[in-house]
Amino acid sequence: MMMKRLKAALGAVTVGLLAGTSLAHAQGTEEDLIKRGEYIARLGDCVACHTALNGQKFAGGLSIKTPIGTIYSTNITPDPTYGIGTYTLQEFDDAVRRGVRKDGSSLYPAMPYPAFSRMTPEDTKALYAYFMHGVKPVAEKNRAEDITWPLSMRWPLSIWRSLFAPAPKAFTPAPGTDAEIARGEYLVTGLGHCGACHTPRGFAMQEKAMDAAGGPDFLGGGGVIDNWVAPSLRNDPVAGIGRWSEDDLFYFLKSGRTDHSAVFGAMADVVGWSTQYFTDDDLRAISKYLKALPPVPPSRGDYTYDASTAQALDAGNFSGNPGAKVYVEQCAMCHRNDGGGVGRMFPPLAGNSVVVTDNATSVAHIVVEGGILPPTNWAQSAVAMPGYKTALSDQQIADVVNFIRTSWGNKAPANVTAADIQKLRLDHNPIPVAGWNNPTAQTATWGLFGPQPYGAGWTFAPQTHTGVDSEQ
Ligand code: HEC
Ligand code: HEC
Ligand code: HEC
Repeated sequence: MMMKRLKAALGAVTVGLLAGTSLAHAQGTEEDLIKRGEYIARLGDCVACHTALNGQKFAGGLSIKTPIGTIYSTNITPDPTYGIGTYTLQEFDDAVRRGVRKDGSSLYPAMPYPAFSRMTPEDTKALYAYFMHGVKPVAEKNRAEDITWPLSMRWPLSIWRSLFAPAPKAFTPAPGTDAEIARGEYLVTGLGHCGACHTPRGFAMQEKAMDAAGGPDFLGGGGVIDNWVAPSLRNDPVAGIGRWSEDDLFYFLKSGRTDHSAVFGAMADVVGWSTQYFTDDDLRAISKYLKALPPVPPSRGDYTYDASTAQALDAGNFSGNPGAKVYVEQCAMCHRNDGGGVGRMFPPLAGNSVVVTDNATSVAHIVVEGGILPPTNWAQSAVAMPGYKTALSDQQIADVVNFIRTSWGNKAPANVTAADIQKLRLDHNPIPVAGWNNPTAQTATWGLFGPQPYGAGWTFAPQTHTGVDSEQ
């Protein structure tokens, strides 16, 4: 439908403008541009934030909680009254790469314009063509933010922008960079905005590093968002992806599962809405780029599998460890006594980097609430893990979380308490950072405003709309 109407409109314009040139060719070019823009919208995951739960695609209205109140994503369909239908290319570029609205006021950096600032002019143009001509207009009014005066004033945001948001500048790789790695860097640091979750934030919520030149903070592991922790994507063998191969990264981003891990929480949204649609070439480029990043010192050492846990569990010997008993009764049928999981259905817990992040919030969260491994075009089964908030007591959940964080060779602080679980379960409060003795990424997220500047009080997409876009 859309395409037909568009073709008719373009036909009328091109007949007038391009008398003498091949009409069919001109149409093809415009359509190609729109198609390319649609792909770029996938790369930037615009749909995840700009669509409310059960809402119309790109019509906005998704609530994002911040410590000062709730803001809502906006309608970016081409509706002339309620959307961005009257935006010129320049105005669109200002919003997406500079964080400035058509009326001149600044956007909240919940919109990842600091990363998008690197987009090339060609990609911006294609993205604009898609939003103007490839997206269905929806006449839905924007919701005003629920922030009370004076915090609702937007002018401090322009100071924030001038201090922390890079000025728009098309990405150019360092001379001599391998072309595939350069493409990966463009996708990770720019459109993919991976650092929005995987890089720690500073006192003003700015990402502490926007690229590898920023040092170990870059992708060094983020704070808590929606009670999920985005772990380090640097090449540490324990706390990062040091033991992942390029193929592991490729299949994780394409299908949500590998032999060592299954995607969950906020990352399930990223795979479900965005990376599963990337071309194989782009996924290879991202994987290659991430593997090329230097590890972050100090390393937590290497991981060695410890067989004594499985032996003890097989023998029914819980040696006074209440978490081991809960594990055998509730978890082992899927994750197995040896912590090795089952194929690409039930992820292993032994040597799994997300199980040993300094902050235990993600691990406790999935045990409390359960999770669904999202179906992807590549792996279509949805596999579920049950939530245990009614089946187990807070103490039992704390015990089993501590058990899996310290078994099979996993080395993480085992200090989750029943009180932590109760707060997570009832008030949705994250667990405070554990392991002060560990000077890696997490300590870097502590800021002037309290323990987790991007943690307590911040949520992206509280009504998480995990899933595959049915329109695809
Ligand atoms: C992580 C969430 C997130 C992602 C991803 C995201 N946006 Fe946004 N965007 C927002 C929020 C929130 C706002 C509103 C901010 C405000 O009110 O200050 C916004 C505002 C905008 C605006 C300004 C609209 C206006 O009223 O002027 C445009 C245009 C826009 N986004 C386009 C995009 C495009 C295109 C993409 C994908 C390339 C994208 N956004 C990806 C969260 C996001
Ligand atoms: C909205 C926040 C968010 C964004 C944006 C995001 N991630 Fe994640 N990511 C997470 C969370 C939370 C986890 C932990 C859960 C899991 O392992 O699935 C994670 C886990 C991962 C893992 C597994 C790491 C491990 O040790 O198990 C990889 C690899 C990854 N992300 C890559 C990426 C890449 C590449 C991008 C950018 C294209 C990206 N992420 C963008 C939140 C995010
Ligand atoms: C019915 C099978 C099943 C049972 C029982 C089960 N899990 Fe899971 N578990 C899964 C599946 C499937 C996933 C992936 C979920 C997702 O992607 O959201 C998972 C994911 C996890 C993860 C995140 C690891 C990752 O890489 O995705 C942890 C931690 C975990 N389970 C711990 C436990 C604990 C502790 C118990 C017992 C209290 C338990 N599980 C019981 C099936 C199960």
